[in-house]
Amino acid sequence: MRGKKGRSFMTRPVKTAVIPAGGLGTRFLPATKAVPKEMLPVVDRPLIQYAVEEARAAGIETVVFVTSRGKAAMEDHFDLAAELDGALAAGGKEDLRAAASEMVPAAGALVHVRQQAPLGLGHAVWCARHVVGDAPFAVLLPDDLVLSGQPCLGQLLDVHREHGGNVVAVMDVPREETGRYGVLDVVEDDGRLASVRGLVEKPAPADAPSTLAIVGRYVLDPSVLRALDAHETGAGGEIQLTDAMARTVGAVPFHGLRFEGRRFDCGDRMGFLEANIACALARPELAPAAREILARFA
Ligand code: G1P
Repeated sequence: MRGKKGRSFMTRPVKTAVIPAGGLGTRFLPATKAVPKEMLPVVDRPLIQYAVEEARAAGIETVVFVTSRGKAAMEDHFDLAAELDGALAAGGKEDLRAAASEMVPAAGALVHVRQQAPLGLGHAVWCARHVVGDAPFAVLLPDDLVLSGQPCLGQLLDVHREHGGNVVAVMDVPREETGRYGVLDVVEDDGRLASVRGLVEKPAPADAPSTLAIVGRYVLDPSVLRALDAHETGAGGEIQLTDAMARTVGAVPFHGLRFEGRRFDCGDRMGFLEANIACALARPELAPAAREILARFA
């Protein structure tokens, strides 16, 4: 895919990431009555901070939060807090001061847009279209926390630099679980990278074209946003991102990457608990104490 001057259009750099964060978090009630689920802490930082840090580590310059009513705490979390900073400085607590301020994105690098009605993941991503413009972009679903050597999004971007088009993170799931995921229809699969000829959102096990399921990390061609303009509804009566991606099959290259790392479903209470344990064990300063506590429950 080359233009008149030989410029490759496939490898345009990805500078913007969309983080949908508009959900009601009903599975965590009553905890989420007044606190956005994305602000629930995994060890000592809110869930959404893991997604933002992953995006920044992958070279993303602009992050777009797609939020809804009652999510203002996220805006405050990613802002400088002068009063807190002053108190920590006066108390000589430089490590905490750094922890509270170093995660704050550069001024203007975080954009908030509202999803005015809960019409589905595809609709949430579409709400960011004016910020994304006509460029490839990333999507990170904060419910999916991924612990890995190289950040998961960085792994997808490596594939995107080579192949362009759409690249999604995937994992093999038991067939009885296909109804919880977007599932790939695959043409070729080398065990790491699969090329995609179709996708189905939440298929029943008997109808699933494979057991290769999408994890919440995507690098997408801007044509996916145009496919979302139609506002067509799919599974669950919602505007699905998976359906919009499926409409671009054939027009742009499309790959699923079995990423290196471990994914935790933090949209689920037990997945969230497991993420807390795994993240504590992954931190050298916390691991010994965490192991000791776990041993008491063995
Ligand atoms: C969403 C997507 C689905 C994907 C999943 C990954 O579903 O629609 O395709 O497999 O995230 O976590 P949700 O979990 O929001 O129902």
